[in-house]
Amino acid sequence: MKKPSVIIVTGTPGTGKTTVAKRLAKKHKATYIDVNKIIKEQKIYEKYDKKWKTYIIDIAKLNKILIKLIKEYKKKKQSIVIDSHLAHHLPKKYVDLCIVTKCSLKKLQQRLKKRHYPQEKIRENMDAEILDVCLLEALMNKHKVKVVKT
Ligand SMILES: Nc1ncnc2c1ncn2[C@@H]1O[C@H](COP(=O)(O)OP(=O)(O)O)[C@@H](O)[C@H]1O
Ligand SMILES: [Mg+2]
Repeated sequence: MKKPSVIIVTGTPGTGKTTVAKRLAKKHKATYIDVNKIIKEQKIYEKYDKKWKTYIIDIAKLNKILIKLIKEYKKKKQSIVIDSHLAHHLPKKYVDLCIVTKCSLKKLQQRLKKRHYPQEKIRENMDAEILDVCLLEALMNKHKVKVVKT
């Protein structure tokens, strides 16, 4: 990568975002940005849903924080890789490349079971993967999309 770039890695939970994002960051000497950590540290969740074991996230708030971060790293001429299934909600103008991770449904189910996700949450994520929610939203947002199968 010549100029400082912003790469986002999105995809259904369990499809390999963190693995791919960390590998990419290492390869391109970019900074890896863990959005889950930011969400917890800066408390940008509206509430924690106990049944779904999920944080309900305010996307507008998250975007604002990520845009500020992108600008800071641009100033430092440092490339970044942003790891989040919500990253594709960023406006296209801040993003150079949007990677969408995908995997087989069998693999996804195995990986989420290993994480001890509740059955409903596994089902929800399997549905999201079947419907390609992240991929479609990324394309609707006009991102330059690359699909990576893990
Ligand atoms: N390319 C890959 N090959 C094999 N296993 C993978 C690959 N990518 C991810 N995994 C495994 O799948 C699981 C979920 O990956 P992770 O990167 O944490 O996904 P996400 O961040 O999207 O939830 C991990 O146990 C990881 O080791
Ligand atoms: Mg992850």
